[in-house]
Amino acid sequence: MELDLGGYNKNSEILSLKRDLSPLGIDVAGATRSNFEALLRGMKGDLGWDEASYRELIAARKLRVKNIVLAKRLDRVVGFIRVGDDGGVLGIATDKNLRSRGIGKLLLFEAMRMLKRRGVELATLTTGAENFPAQRIYGKAGFITTGSFFYLSKKIG
Ligand SMILES: CC(C)(COP(=O)(O)OP(=O)(O)OC[C@H]1O[C@@H](n2cnc3c(N)ncnc32)[C@H](O)[C@@H]1OP(=O)(O)O)[C@@H](O)C(=O)NCCC(=O)NCCS
Repeated sequence: MELDLGGYNKNSEILSLKRDLSPLGIDVAGATRSNFEALLRGMKGDLGWDEASYRELIAARKLRVKNIVLAKRLDRVVGFIRVGDDGGVLGIATDKNLRSRGIGKLLLFEAMRMLKRRGVELATLTTGAENFPAQRIYGKAGFITTGSFFYLSKKIG
């Protein structure tokens, strides 16, 4: 992954996104034990994940809070990203009502910065071929497609 995170705090788009989001009360930072609970509550709201994903996150309580970055608006979670210790991006979502305002980009950049600080050298992820908003933010963060695969299924019962 080619990503100059050294420039994160000087990156003009990131800075202007932060400036735009600040009057809305939106802040992006690493999760804590207490606001992780707010994340779980938020999953029932406008983060747009289905029941199965919500259950997966509940099971992921064991997943270390330090691997989650949250976008918060006051005490409400309006976006999150989860990463693995190995640099895998495990999930990202933003509030349906607040999309295309840069929250996704900020979450992704913050997560990459966090991983880089820990010495992780390669970040990886998979995304849907038609998930254009996700592809857009990954592209902006410097991710490039390094392989592709088909998702196959066959009804057997
Ligand atoms: C992917 C997701 C996290 C992006 O969050 P977001 O807060 O809208 O992200 P941003 O506002 O930072 O950026 C979205 C970008 O997609 C662009 N975009 C939005 N809809 C688009 C579309 N239909 N086609 C192409 N680009 C699109 C926006 O213009 C913006 O890019 P730009 O500001 O550089 O022009 C959000 O759409 C989401 O939660 N999706 C559902 C969960 C999901 O699919 N997660 C990814 C799994 S791999």
